[in-house]
Amino acid sequence: MTHPAIAANGLRKSYGDKTVLDGIDLTVPAGTVFALLGPNGAGKTTAVKILSTLVSPGADSGEIRVGGHHLATDPQSVRAAIGVTGQFSAVDGLITGEENMLLMADLHHLPKAEGRRVTAELLERFDLVDAAKKPASTYSGGMKRRLDIAMTLVGGPRIIFLDEPTTGLDPRSRHTMWGIIRGLVADGVTVFLTTQYLEEADELADRIAVLNNGKIAAEGSADELKRIVPGGHVKLRFTDPHAYRSAASALTGASPDEEALSLRIPSDGSQRELRSILDRLDTAGIEADELTVHTPDLDDVFFALTDSATAPASVPAQNNQPKENAR
Ligand SMILES: Nc1ncnc2c1ncn2[C@@H]1O[C@H](COP(=O)(O)OP(=O)(O)OP(=O)(O)O)[C@@H](O)[C@H]1O
Ligand SMILES: [Mg+2]
Repeated sequence: MTHPAIAANGLRKSYGDKTVLDGIDLTVPAGTVFALLGPNGAGKTTAVKILSTLVSPGADSGEIRVGGHHLATDPQSVRAAIGVTGQFSAVDGLITGEENMLLMADLHHLPKAEGRRVTAELLERFDLVDAAKKPASTYSGGMKRRLDIAMTLVGGPRIIFLDEPTTGLDPRSRHTMWGIIRGLVADGVTVFLTTQYLEEADELADRIAVLNNGKIAAEGSADELKRIVPGGHVKLRFTDPHAYRSAASALTGASPDEEALSLRIPSDGSQRELRSILDRLDTAGIEADELTVHTPDLDDVFFALTDSATAPASVPAQNNQPKENAR
């Protein structure tokens, strides 16, 4: 497969006079994980619903292809290629987990025996065998989410959309879910996910796009995104006020925190810059009690790009307060 799994040009959608997606371009190579980030109401679910044929795109949208198929002219083929796990559970609580699975198998027109085989295999893989015969309403949030994704996989889709797969899950369940998603990718499945958790995008995604005000505010690998937001610094902490004051005068350009006896030196965290800081301390005969390197994380990126209602595509310098400063 040489074409991208998902390719959308000028994706637009409005509800009434509210523009939700204002011409966004998305390209997701096959076999990769793409994460769409954005604040509540940014249009993540709308994008997922359009790409998965559940909602029609705005008429003025450009070409959209999923699995190589034209969304506009061949939605049937798109549907056959994809699986969708919505933001809100598709699990029917009144029937058992196993019955939910078998229902999906029926919807996919799998022969009975094949449906049972796939169901058994997925229940096993998602650690739901013990719960399989219990009504799904008795499942915990994590179990329900696992069942949700298992149901999505019944038809063997090569491209899956996961709308906030781990929202509301505890840290252990979240890690379990990450393992499941990594397993899918190892099998060559393309994953398009939305998330509120920056850490999740950092962990899973090959590429991340930040959606804000209907536009992609920034796109890249986690590292690329972190690089567009300054805020990296080295923090030195002292217990001896005398040492602190000597360091403050030796390290010009450091922001002092008199009360905490700490100094904050802007730095990209590179070996060269660290060495220079240490050299200056050595020369002055000062020893810090603690040295920490803060590299910007995706939270910094998220806040910088989505903080204000008017965040522009490129990040102006005055908007680059790292979150520690902003608090
Ligand atoms: N069917 C609809 N009719 C009218 N407005 C809608 C409809 N669906 C979504 N919207 C609006 O479109 C905007 C984007 O909604 P969407 O659900 O895509 O956001 P989201 O990024 O998924 O948010 P969240 O993080 O809360 O899930 C919101 O302002 C929402 O109110
Ligand atoms: Mg949503």
